[in-house]
Amino acid sequence: MTPPNHTILLGVESSCDEAACALVRDGREVLANAVASQIDLHTRFGGVVPELASRAHVEQINSVIAEALQAGGVDPGDISAVAVTHQPGLIGSLLVGLMAAKTLAWVWDVPLVGVNHVYAHACAPALDEEPINYPAVALIASGGHTSLYHCTGPIEMNLLGTTIDDAAGEAFDKVASILQLGYPGGPVIDRAAKEGDPAAVRFPRTLLKGQSLDFSFSGIKTAVLYHVNGVPGMQYDHPRGLEHFSRQEIHDIAASFQQAVVEVLTTKIRRAVQQTGAKTILLGGGVAANSALRAAAETLAKKLGCTLRRPPLKYCTDNAAMIAGLGYHYLQAGRTSDLGLAATATVRH
Ligand code: KG4
Ligand code: ZN
Repeated sequence: MTPPNHTILLGVESSCDEAACALVRDGREVLANAVASQIDLHTRFGGVVPELASRAHVEQINSVIAEALQAGGVDPGDISAVAVTHQPGLIGSLLVGLMAAKTLAWVWDVPLVGVNHVYAHACAPALDEEPINYPAVALIASGGHTSLYHCTGPIEMNLLGTTIDDAAGEAFDKVASILQLGYPGGPVIDRAAKEGDPAAVRFPRTLLKGQSLDFSFSGIKTAVLYHVNGVPGMQYDHPRGLEHFSRQEIHDIAASFQQAVVEVLTTKIRRAVQQTGAKTILLGGGVAANSALRAAAETLAKKLGCTLRRPPLKYCTDNAAMIAGLGYHYLQAGRTSDLGLAATATVRH
């Protein structure tokens, strides 16, 4: 029996390279948060290999669900609904979590709640914390997405701008690959940047026309590539090719690249706050784990008189607690799904 006054959701996430399951009470209190990462599997390819990811999900999904149920100490009879990422993501990966979630919802005879993964990142700042005050501006920056939203509530997300080419996390991953720092790129660049000078190289800040809230990160990736390898036909004082750069110079490039990305992201947040009048800023997605972005967003929020809500690192990167968190609000609003719910790789806003 569901205890009175409490609603526990089991969340399932498998959209990319993490198989995850969580139990969340009343949309915020995380009772269990199990994540099986596949980083080791994909590292030697320098990126996620979709077919390997979906096969690994098949192997991992039952054990993360069992792990969450055991860690949360929750009886399945106390679970009110099963929330699951059904979009966007790698289609083969999404299908694994979706089938597992549908099976649990059917066996336990509870509602299924389909959740948009990107929107769920905007709920992460409320996990284990106070509720979010709306309206808010949310920057969701991850390996696959970089978007700004005006949120008037947890389920009312209005897109303000999005990337027209690469995602911010993708730029971190590609630049780390150019600098041969390892994978995933975000954490290694973050660490290398701490040893470098962010003013050493002036990389472009692509802000797009007027007061645009869209993003573009493919230019900066190319600028780093040209800085390291040189442009064919150009003459340089410093020989080009990564082998000619010292450790310190590589750290300087990492710090300068990171600084340029952080400046673009915070400039767009500032514009979004000024255009909407929102008093809360939400950060989400793997790039929200970046130490320079977290610090710059704090300075900006103070300047704008806004409350900044940054999730702890474990809720920035992919997890199922945020899926159960957003699923709770959908359930409250009566937005449940039937067992025919489809997985969708991309989402049109
Ligand atoms: O949200 P997430 O776990 O998965 C997606 O939905 O894509 O984000 C993963 C992305 C990767 O591109 C990774 O390099 C980046 O987030 N990332 C970071 C940091 N930690 C992870 N980027 C910058 N700085 C970090 N500390
Ligand atoms: Zn994500």
